[in-house]
Amino acid sequence: MADLKDKRIIITGAASGIGRATSMLAAAKGAMVVAVDLNREVEETVSTIEAAGGRAISVQADVSEEEAVEGFIKRCVNEFGGVDGIYANAGIGGGGKPFLELNVEDWQRTLGVNTIGVFLCIKHSVPHFVAQQSGSIVCTASVAGLRANAGGVDYSASKAGVISIVQTVAYQLYGSGVRINGICPGLIETGMTEPIFAQARSRGSEHRIGQINPTKRFGQPSEIAEMACFLLSDAASYVNGQAIPVDGGLSASHPWVFPRGERAEM
Ligand SMILES: NC(=O)c1ccc[n+]([C@@H]2O[C@H](COP(=O)([O-])OP(=O)(O)OC[C@H]3O[C@@H](n4cnc5c(N)ncnc54)[C@H](O)[C@@H]3O)[C@@H](O)[C@H]2O)c1
Repeated sequence: MADLKDKRIIITGAASGIGRATSMLAAAKGAMVVAVDLNREVEETVSTIEAAGGRAISVQADVSEEEAVEGFIKRCVNEFGGVDGIYANAGIGGGGKPFLELNVEDWQRTLGVNTIGVFLCIKHSVPHFVAQQSGSIVCTASVAGLRANAGGVDYSASKAGVISIVQTVAYQLYGSGVRINGICPGLIETGMTEPIFAQARSRGSEHRIGQINPTKRFGQPSEIAEMACFLLSDAASYVNGQAIPVDGGLSASHPWVFPRGERAEM
């Protein structure tokens, strides 16, 4: 369904986790991918894509630096002749400090990558999209941007900011032919959540991870990649301004408790 044949797509945070999985899936669906990451392991994402017969280039860049963002968007235009989509996905967890321990530098770091980084990707890709009257912007927000208890206050606010950017920019792009959407992942096993998984494994409580959602498990990066590729594709032509949870159903509920005795058997 999500055919990306010959689409020129930039994906940030492409060295690991969700960005890596999306880069590989987009390339498998026919896209030319500009894989961007702060970490030089992004080159491995490109090698894997090329080994599978896909087309991609890697760029090492910091999404919180405006010149760097302008640079990788220009690189896409120069290498592939234009840009059709951008997945502003790079993010950091913020460290999960209790809120009274957060200082201004912590806030600036988290917002700088997670929120301003997303804004810069939008700002510098939109002129290309508007000129061609088409384009799809996808941003990674989080269930943490919807409700409490999925991250520290700086992280959660940074992701609520992404959701707000998606909604407001959709209207500022009124009639332009450009769509913008966000994805709110639940708990996904990636580099960012590795410490949670490592701690649970060391305690022998891995089987409990993800049990509070009705799908009864945590998610894989490939399951977010499927949604990202759909939103980047023309198959999503009437989806705009939305922040879509991909969380096994976690955000569908009010707080609840497992019915006594039923949890293990269900
Ligand atoms: N894993 C989850 O459970 C989960 C849940 C909700 C949202 N998210 C979001 O998904 C996105 C992807 O994270 P992930 O889970 O795949 O984690 P990850 O750590 O595996 O991947 C994030 C990538 O972003 C890169 N990055 C960090 N700062 C950067 C910067 N300034 N410039 C360029 N690249 C940078 C990292 O080097 C890394 O490769 C993030 O925005 C994260 O907040 C993750």
